[in-house]
Amino acid sequence: MEASLRAVLVTGASAGIGEEFARQLAVAGHHLVLVARRLDRLETLASELKGRHNIQVECIASDLAKANAAEQLVAELEARKVQVTGLINNAGFGDRGSVQGLPLQRQLDMIQVNVASLVDLTWRLLPGLKSVPNSFIINVASTAAFQAGPNMAVYYASKAFVLSFSEALHEEVKADGVAVSALCPGATDSEFASEANMTDTVLFKAGTMSAEAVVRKALDARRRAIVIPGLKNLLMIWMGKFSPRLVTRRLAGWLQK
Ligand SMILES: NC(=O)c1ccc[n+]([C@@H]2O[C@H](COP(=O)([O-])OP(=O)(O)OC[C@H]3O[C@@H](n4cnc5c(N)ncnc54)[C@H](OP(=O)(O)O)[C@@H]3O)[C@@H](O)[C@H]2O)c1
Repeated sequence: MEASLRAVLVTGASAGIGEEFARQLAVAGHHLVLVARRLDRLETLASELKGRHNIQVECIASDLAKANAAEQLVAELEARKVQVTGLINNAGFGDRGSVQGLPLQRQLDMIQVNVASLVDLTWRLLPGLKSVPNSFIINVASTAAFQAGPNMAVYYASKAFVLSFSEALHEEVKADGVAVSALCPGATDSEFASEANMTDTVLFKAGTMSAEAVVRKALDARRRAIVIPGLKNLLMIWMGKFSPRLVTRRLAGWLQK
């Protein structure tokens, strides 16, 4: 394929951390492919970024909860002759509630978006990324990746998967020149908390980081296997390493009461 556009692909670019990735990458002069379900939001962002910076921006509507979404997305990239030079697997969501209390389909969709589509897209785009110098993948995990989370079991488990997968892939492909990193933010200002029914939790009431600061750290440190933005988050994870799992999982459960 003769590429007509070399661009960084950002999933979940219609809000929060993904939108901020798009903004900061645009400032750095990267062409972009923006992906999410809400195409109207992507198009508004794209026209703003094209107006401010000398870049091209493609928008693709995709529901990553669908099993064939990544395959269709990659087919669309090929049809538009886009060569992906960086991949930000950011789309994701959580939901507060017990395993038995939350609808099964909601939890299966969470695994599809947070885990399966992330792996699918990575597998399909990796060969192309290996052929591009200084290419990168940033997988958005969470501080939730480091312990179990009662009352948000599937979300925490999905992020533990993303962390483990990204660390392993980091080692597998570094010799090919692809930098893979797991970004592990703590509570961050975005639409996540309201989507996850978490605005009244101790975790979010204790304060959030801005998406701007989270993304700045992620892009600055994208050659590192694990990126934990914010001193508070770093300390929590460091202390967790020296605590029994019984303590860390109960603390996580309390933080999202
Ligand atoms: N905010 C936090 O406190 C926090 C902390 C740690 C990790 N994270 C992680 O950070 C990532 C971004 O979250 P955020 O905080 O920016 O939340 P957000 O503001 O709610 O944004 C989530 C993004 O994911 C997209 N998305 C959700 N479901 C999708 C689907 N089925 N198909 C395609 N796109 C979908 C949304 O787009 P559409 O709705 O338009 O599809 C939106 O662009 C997530 O992986 C989240 O788990 C967030």
